[in-house]
Amino acid sequence: MEKQPKVLVTGSGGQIGTELVRALRSMHGTENVLSTDLIPRDRDEGAEGPFAQLDVTDTESFVALLEEHKINHVYHLAALLSSKGEKNIDLTWNINFEAHRKLLAACYSHNVDRVFFPSTIGVYGPTTPRQMTPQFTSFQPSTVYGITKITGELWNQYYKSRYGLDVRSLRYPGVISYEVIPEGGTTDFSVEMFFELKRKGHYVCYLKKDTRLPMIYMPDVIKATLGLMQAEVHQLSTSMGYNLSGFSLTPAELFEELQRYYPEATISYEPDARQQIADSWSETIDDRTASDDWGWQPDYNMQGMVKDMVKHVV
Ligand code: SER
Repeated sequence: MEKQPKVLVTGSGGQIGTELVRALRSMHGTENVLSTDLIPRDRDEGAEGPFAQLDVTDTESFVALLEEHKINHVYHLAALLSSKGEKNIDLTWNINFEAHRKLLAACYSHNVDRVFFPSTIGVYGPTTPRQMTPQFTSFQPSTVYGITKITGELWNQYYKSRYGLDVRSLRYPGVISYEVIPEGGTTDFSVEMFFELKRKGHYVCYLKKDTRLPMIYMPDVIKATLGLMQAEVHQLSTSMGYNLSGFSLTPAELFEELQRYYPEATISYEPDARQQIADSWSETIDDRTASDDWGWQPDYNMQGMVKDMVKHVV
């Protein structure tokens, strides 16, 4: 039998972590995947498995876990998202970049042989082409979140070229899922709308109706993340984040699709500060480098995603 990696996941109680930990455990064995989170409670209850409380700014504790569990793969998910980031820029820099920089150094010195770092469409900015945004383009993000993530990507690239550390990264678009509702992001409306329409029949959207943004459904997030992490190193042409997308939608298009399931539902639009962030991001993404390098293909379009989501939203 192939030797299984010993995996550590940070931020495992978050929107992506909760589902990724489960997927990693079914792939590598429950005991081989240590989930960690700042919140001292394993939110992926039911899927029992090793858990440790971890503040990612506490490098000493991170190192102790690497040693104790003989970790060789790290998925470093802990981060603040775009909108929340603007409310506390120093904390966002410390968690999203400084902690990452120190964790990467610890991974290198403790023989971790593969690291995953989630990047984002937030790395783009007003000078980036908004249609079919290319893999290699202009990065002048207007949020601290975007600044930390593009700096993180560059730091990964530096570690790869200078030290040979195998760091891999995806630029996630807005992630739609039903298990853990995202907090503090600009794309959160795409999840909130499902729950509010189901529970209250009305949604007040904080973006304008025609704001188009790239999105992805959680099963495709898991597929992309595991696909990238399982690729052979020679398949990868970049150690920056790979562009990634499932589909693009506007709040009005999502609402229209949801009306097929909730014909009585209503929506109103009250744009807030998040509108400016959304306006600085891409509308559609060219993710052909991911397809060409390691065979990325999404399974869900918007209609397929909505059909599946409504079965699970309660
Ligand atoms: N979902 C994130 C956000 O809205 C984008 O990566 O901040």
